Amino acid sequence: MLQIDDLHVKVGDREVLSGVDLEVPSGQICVLFGPNGSGKTTLLHTIMGFSEYKIVKGKIYFMDKDITDMPINERAKMGLGILLQRPPNIVGLKLKDLAEAANSGYIDTVKAAEELGLVNFLERDVNVGFSGGELKRSELLQLSVQDPCFLLLDEPESGVDMESIDLVGRKIHNLLYSKKRCGLEKGACDKSALVITHTGQILDYIDADCAYVMRGGQIMCSGRPRDILRDIREKGYGECIKCRMIKL
Ligand SMILES: Nc1ncnc2c1ncn2[C@@H]1O[C@H](COP(=O)(O)OP(=O)(O)OP(=O)(O)O)[C@@H](O)[C@H]1O
Ligand SMILES: [Mg+2]
Repeated sequence: MLQIDDLHVKVGDREVLSGVDLEVPSGQICVLFGPNGSGKTTLLHTIMGFSEYKIVKGKIYFMDKDITDMPINERAKMGLGILLQRPPNIVGLKLKDLAEAANSGYIDTVKAAEELGLVNFLERDVNVGFSGGELKRSELLQLSVQDPCFLLLDEPESGVDMESIDLVGRKIHNLLYSKKRCGLEKGACDKSALVITHTGQILDYIDADCAYVMRGGQIMCSGRPRDILRDIREKGYGECIKCRMIKL
């Protein structure tokens, strides 16, 4: 579904990703762990196609197509969607209008907002004055109505309170485990995802198949999500790569 080969990415003058190899097979959910500043968000933004991330070497393939140079809007049309770690405020654009623009055409925006407790936010400017947890729900609303077949989730649970985590977790579960019309051909497909998490709380809601650990702009190892999370909790990132993991 998604294959990344020897990806080198510069942000400004700095090479942040230095040879990333990663694969997410069709219908699978992979988790991406890594310390602060290791390049996780940079990887997701590069996959989505944000223009400030310059690919200097390597390739990105999505649904067997080389998307390395494809514009962001075409990637979205193919079925890539992202939940941002730090979404921007958009003054002058109401959340309802953005959600309607992102809507795939078969989701009721107001109903989706109701499910996320966001009905009263639809007439507000996108993210302006939203609390940390409200920002995540706003992102999730936009993703829900877009209903992509490949979800890039950047710390979906961070900043979300204990009660709302259940709401967010169940919504992500529903999004991932519903079939959808997928890609340019609009055939049915199983959804896939690449999910960044520090706490692992989201693993209570999704049955993740694999995990990668990123350090210094490279994938250091991969393995079973729960095993890797336990190693990181017990030994930290410095030790985890020596334990029970398959070196790529
Ligand atoms: N526009 C930029 N200009 C300069 N450096 C940048 C820019 N964007 C990212 N970086 C740097 O690239 C590195 C990787 O950042 P990134 O946001 O990808 O890390 P991360 O793994 O997502 O971290 P976190 O867990 O804290 O979210 C960081 O050192 C960051 O400061
Ligand atoms: Mg990040």
